[in-house]
Amino acid sequence: MRIIPIASGKGGVGKSLLAANLSIALAQAGKDVVLVDLDLGASNLHLTLGFPAPKNGIGTFLSGARNDFEELIHRTDYPNLRFIAGDAEIPGLANLNAKQKAGLARRLLSLEADYLILDLGAGSGSNILDFFLLSGRGIVITAPTLTATLNAYLFLKNVVFRLMWDSFKPRSRARAILDGLRKDGGSLQRAYVPEILGRVAEADPVSRAAFDIRMSRFAPRLVMNMLEDPKDADKAQKIRRSCKEYLGMDLEHMGILYRDDLQDIALGSRIPIIRYKPQSILSQAIYRIADKLISTEDYTDDFLDPEYLDDSYGAANSEAEIDFESKIGYVEELLQSGVLTVGDLIETVRMQQFELTQLRKENQLVKLKLTRALAQGYKV
Ligand SMILES: Nc1ncnc2c1ncn2[C@@H]1O[C@H](COP(=O)(O)OP(=O)(O)OP(=O)(O)O)[C@@H](O)[C@H]1O
Ligand SMILES: [Mg+2]
Repeated sequence: MRIIPIASGKGGVGKSLLAANLSIALAQAGKDVVLVDLDLGASNLHLTLGFPAPKNGIGTFLSGARNDFEELIHRTDYPNLRFIAGDAEIPGLANLNAKQKAGLARRLLSLEADYLILDLGAGSGSNILDFFLLSGRGIVITAPTLTATLNAYLFLKNVVFRLMWDSFKPRSRARAILDGLRKDGGSLQRAYVPEILGRVAEADPVSRAAFDIRMSRFAPRLVMNMLEDPKDADKAQKIRRSCKEYLGMDLEHMGILYRDDLQDIALGSRIPIIRYKPQSILSQAIYRIADKLISTEDYTDDFLDPEYLDDSYGAANSEAEIDFESKIGYVEELLQSGVLTVGDLIETVRMQQFELTQLRKENQLVKLKLTRALAQGYKV
């Protein structure tokens, strides 16, 4: 079974959209898929999936109200796709204890399927990190904005720390080094991973070797969502470079997804975009990601080859160009068929210009605040 946890760091960047639609795409390709809502405390995947409000889910199981895990596995309208809901009915389960977490992970890992897709919550909480680490090949989804890319990177940094913690034995010298950093409040976020690993190698080579083995099987995948412009695809390279330089970790690019207003309508109608408009650029991009997963199923070690990873970025960049061309072509078709008038386009351009002016004003205000703060002696 291939386990694909989907995480993001920042919330609202498309984890649930990808989890639901990718699961459907894989199921349509004949794969046996189980989709799980692990966004405990804020479960809403059933809405994206267009699944009626589930009576029982992980929450029911964890609260002990139901012991039969099998009962939680719902059939869906899609052949080959089963769904395990979260805890929408029983809030307050965001914090699992270690025993609950281990029990849940054991149940999930013993499911029989080709793919297990896990929709995780936002942030870098320990549950999220642990579920992400159930696989060495999870997906981090992000958007081209500065906060989203930064959060994706910080999420991965936290994953690396968790991986260290897991690899180092209790009471080992390596653990003591990590403990020291933890006590020094906040320094974990600022810590430079290669420097820490250097210290671990000197003080405790056995722990370092254990970490290196786990890290060598770890190459998460990236999806860049909410693109507006093909140039945004470049932001993925920035995340990759930071991960390589500061975390000693490489990432594969699984592809890009443009922002598409059709998704709002699809969500409003509780129909996954891939069913609502399978031919849309967004749906086709999700099918493309599913195809990449399926076509590399037999080459599980490909990511060990740096050239393979390099190529994945080249491919994503050209997909961004191709999809952009299709978007423009689509507008032209709408114009020709009369669905969209030149007047509509002029109106859109006007609206966008208005938004740009507003943004510019906001930007000037923030700059002014920044200049004042610096003048008052605040440090960057
Ligand atoms: N490519 C896209 N085009 C248009 N809308 C999108 C796109 N991707 C996501 N959205 C919309 O953005 C919102 C957030 O997406 P989604 O719920 O999938 O994110 P999430 O990461 O799961 O959020 P959360 O952290 O709250 O669980 C939703 O309204 C979704 O419909
Ligand atoms: Mg979500």
